[in-house]
Amino acid sequence: MEKTIEAFKQLESEDFRVLQIIERGMSKYKQVPIDYIVKLYKQSLSEAVYRLDRLHNLNLIIRWTGPYVGYVLTFPGFDSLALGSLVSSDIIDAFGHTIGLGKESDVYDALTSSKERVIIKFHRLGRTSFRQVRRLRNYVGNKRHSSWFYANIVSAEKEFEALKILFEAGVSVPRPRGHNRHTVVMDFVEGDELYLIRELPNPLKILNEILDNVKLSYEAGVVHSDLSEHNVIVKPDLHVVLIDWPQWLTTAHIAALQYLRRDVYNILRFFERQFGIKVDLEEVLKKIG
Ligand SMILES: Nc1ncnc2c1ncn2[C@@H]1O[C@H](COP(=O)(O)OP(=O)(O)OP(=O)(O)O)[C@@H](O)[C@H]1O
Ligand SMILES: [Mg+2]
Repeated sequence: MEKTIEAFKQLESEDFRVLQIIERGMSKYKQVPIDYIVKLYKQSLSEAVYRLDRLHNLNLIIRWTGPYVGYVLTFPGFDSLALGSLVSSDIIDAFGHTIGLGKESDVYDALTSSKERVIIKFHRLGRTSFRQVRRLRNYVGNKRHSSWFYANIVSAEKEFEALKILFEAGVSVPRPRGHNRHTVVMDFVEGDELYLIRELPNPLKILNEILDNVKLSYEAGVVHSDLSEHNVIVKPDLHVVLIDWPQWLTTAHIAALQYLRRDVYNILRFFERQFGIKVDLEEVLKKIG
């Protein structure tokens, strides 16, 4: 990610144009032919080649030489397109550094133009399995590649949608700021994930606050579906924020109640183990659903 930011900072607007053309071409071609790029770029062949060489050296695209010369975006190339759009639509202004490398995402710290602290969450579903595939077959620029991009765009859109619904309903979630491609921008929340916390002055109060937010989400039509002590941040003022929403379900979903049960169970189990608080799962569920 740090490398991507370095590459991103060197990009000129002409480089972006070429990246965008390749992105567009990837919905049509496995490897985007140079002729297609030159045609859409509307510049001379040598001008296009100059840009393509730059992008290739920055590791943002890969050149493929088979029966014809073609190009595909790399993951850093896709990241750069998203960053470029977030900057040009004035959602972010400056980058900080990595604050979390999750299993399914990279979280990066940034500032808005009015110097408010936000995070950029890059969705990276199935990253590990994809890497394995690539290592085994040196696979680039095939269907898997663009469907990986697509799956992560869908995941980011889903998370952004949930955050908007929940934030408006008054659930304690990070305020959503915007999204582009496979990224979501939201307010930075200071604090620690619940699982890291060994002592609390009043754990029952925190537990109740989490359950109140689960209930409020449910009333807004949303079930988290991956709730646990890893996706709750406890702020320094001891209020909580629920994060990590891409896998949410609507309450109309056939399995909504099962997931609600598991969410609540995870939280109750944590409070019982860590703080010895016993609360009856069925009682809680009756109050929510
Ligand atoms: N709004 C935020 N403010 C501050 N830190 C955040 C925020 N959102 C996420 N983080 C940090 O980044 C980490 C990963 O984020 P998140 O849980 O949303 O993604 P994930 O990759 O799905 O997580 P997992 O590792 O559970 O798969 C969080 O555990 C937290 O440390
Ligand atoms: Mg998480």
